[in-house]
Amino acid sequence: MRPDGIAVLDFGGQYCHLIARRIRELHVFSEIVPGDVDAEELKALEGHMALKGLVLSGGPASVYEPSAPRLDKRILDLGLPMLGICYGHQLLAHLLGGEVRPREAAEYGIAMARIIRPVGVLEGLGPVERVWMSHKDQVVSLPSGFEVLAETDSCPIAAFRDPSGLIYGLQWHPEVVHTQNGMKMLENFVFKICGCRANWRMEDFIPRAIEEIRQAVGPGKAIIALSGGIDSSTTAVLAAKAIGDRLHAVFIDTGLMREGEVEYVKRVFSRLLPNLHVVDAGEEFLGALRGVRDPERKRRIIGEVFIRVFERVARQVGAEYLLQGTIYPDRIESGARRFSEKIKTHHNVAGLPSRMEFKAVIEPLRDLYKDEVREVARRLGLPDEVVERQPFPGPGLAVRIVGEVTPEKVEIARKADAIVRGEFERAGVARGLWQYFAVLLDTRTTGVRGDKRAYGYVVAIRAVESKEAMTASFAKLPWDLLERVATRITNEIPEVVRVVYDITHKPPATIEWE
Ligand code: XMP
Repeated sequence: MRPDGIAVLDFGGQYCHLIARRIRELHVFSEIVPGDVDAEELKALEGHMALKGLVLSGGPASVYEPSAPRLDKRILDLGLPMLGICYGHQLLAHLLGGEVRPREAAEYGIAMARIIRPVGVLEGLGPVERVWMSHKDQVVSLPSGFEVLAETDSCPIAAFRDPSGLIYGLQWHPEVVHTQNGMKMLENFVFKICGCRANWRMEDFIPRAIEEIRQAVGPGKAIIALSGGIDSSTTAVLAAKAIGDRLHAVFIDTGLMREGEVEYVKRVFSRLLPNLHVVDAGEEFLGALRGVRDPERKRRIIGEVFIRVFERVARQVGAEYLLQGTIYPDRIESGARRFSEKIKTHHNVAGLPSRMEFKAVIEPLRDLYKDEVREVARRLGLPDEVVERQPFPGPGLAVRIVGEVTPEKVEIARKADAIVRGEFERAGVARGLWQYFAVLLDTRTTGVRGDKRAYGYVVAIRAVESKEAMTASFAKLPWDLLERVATRITNEIPEVVRVVYDITHKPPATIEWE
């Protein structure tokens, strides 16, 4: 059964993902598409959802600029309900015959909206609502027949609807938490205006995904690169349920793993999966990295060696199908958004299919957000230690060792990381953090040890809070925890004389150091 769904047209707004996630919290499927999608492309979404309505997102442009993103006008003829937010609100007014002008000053922050008509998207709201605005243009006149539903002191047309009651515009952002009843507004749109049923539920997703894998693989064999992280683990367990011992899971020990990682994978997954292959390829990886300092080259080399090793195993087991744990934000980040920049070459197994011959690549989690994957994992009975795991990058400790990777440095980075993890978990701060780890720098500095001069390495501690890793804030941690970690690292790892704490947000820094 296809779920009912809403397409979010992306005009470059920073809250696009948030809109889709909020709608999914209402158990309605939602997918982001580029703002310049045409009517045929929208119709094609019907292949996997019953498209019930459109949300036009915010964005940085001004509708009256010649280069501003537009909407394919034929979309207006589809008869679908539409909700324009911020730029989307202005674009709808502009396209349908209203007027949008720059304001004298931008408005940014909380505003009090007077609800003139509590109908449609605004049904059930009080006379005054706290909303969050961020705009430099505004609608100054409406298309004929449209009515104003709300105003603020400085924005007389803050919400509108068309005569049919299917098209709405909100100058504020209902998707951010600062808009007090934002969820109620989205709920009104999704259920009352679009008539969606709340049928996007993970308990329904699981049998659908299992059936999809079964159909795709038929009587064949499939292989998956298991990293031990939540996405590939969940995919593997779904696949094991679908095809049993025709699944081969391959864990490649790159020699760049955290302490205890290989044992963890063997302990947890030999129980959950039928054929677990643990391949020790540490020497191959470290050999290929010898003398290489440039972070992008390191990432590329690791990707290549990974493919080489994986290809070898795939040939041995004779697998015709490849399973991957790609999730929704991975797809969006790698090109579904038209204006995104490449920051670094992310290594996951996404590079594999272009080089390898498989009958098909199967990505059962391709439509899920991370929190949805966690829910699926829980429902599949994966243990907490898998579900709550912090993400670990494919290139492993190599991107946490600045400069050349040597066996000695891997050992230091691994010990320091184990201390950080252990202390953070014991202190009970780990659960609130997206990631927490150690980075080994390639500068050496002076210290004292037992009244003697010491000259050694610097370790940086990185700990961040984040929702999707696209932005992150450094964590404000208790000093005594940081002190304990620094003391243990310098005491237990004689090569290290100094420990620093990274207090940079993302942006401008990234989470990993390389
Ligand atoms: P950055 O460093 O770009 O990281 O802020 C964002 C998130 O992605 C993880 N990361 C990776 N994950 N392969 C992965 O599977 C990679 O090559 C890779 N590089 C970074 C990082 O740990 C963080 O969660």
